[in-house]
Amino acid sequence: MEKTLAIIKPDAVALGYTGAILSAILDNGFRIKAMRQTTLTRAQAEGFYAVHREKPFFQGLISFMTEGPVVLLCLEREDAIQKWRQVMGATNPEKAEEGTIRKRFGTNIERNATHGSDSPETAAFELSWFFAGWELA
Ligand code: CMP
Repeated sequence: MEKTLAIIKPDAVALGYTGAILSAILDNGFRIKAMRQTTLTRAQAEGFYAVHREKPFFQGLISFMTEGPVVLLCLEREDAIQKWRQVMGATNPEKAEEGTIRKRFGTNIERNATHGSDSPETAAFELSWFFAGWELA
């Protein structure tokens, strides 16, 4: 069993897609180990995306991620990291495969509905950024 961090981003929450995305998560065999809706502070978003701080899209990304509520999730299943990335589809919704979450619910490369960890090291950092150990035990 592997864990990954998923986020339903402010665009998808505001457009009312939370239920449909949670259904897709469960339909794909993930167990929801922990879940919380919250509005990120700039400090929380900047720390989470610190790896991107030199990128030209960083300030826009932080404004977007703090504009309204997000849903933070710890998902668990076999091969959870890769499987969740497959279910989400490509970062850019225009390039994502039909039926993927970003194709169905994303708007553009920034407002792309969901986030997922990209490696075991990233998942460990991202899960610990938002959840306490006891919530994931
Ligand atoms: P995510 O998987 O959360 O990881 C970093 C985020 O930055 C990404 O999804 C997008 O929301 C955003 N992003 C990545 N590339 C670009 C880009 N070229 N322009 C704007 N936003 C981007």
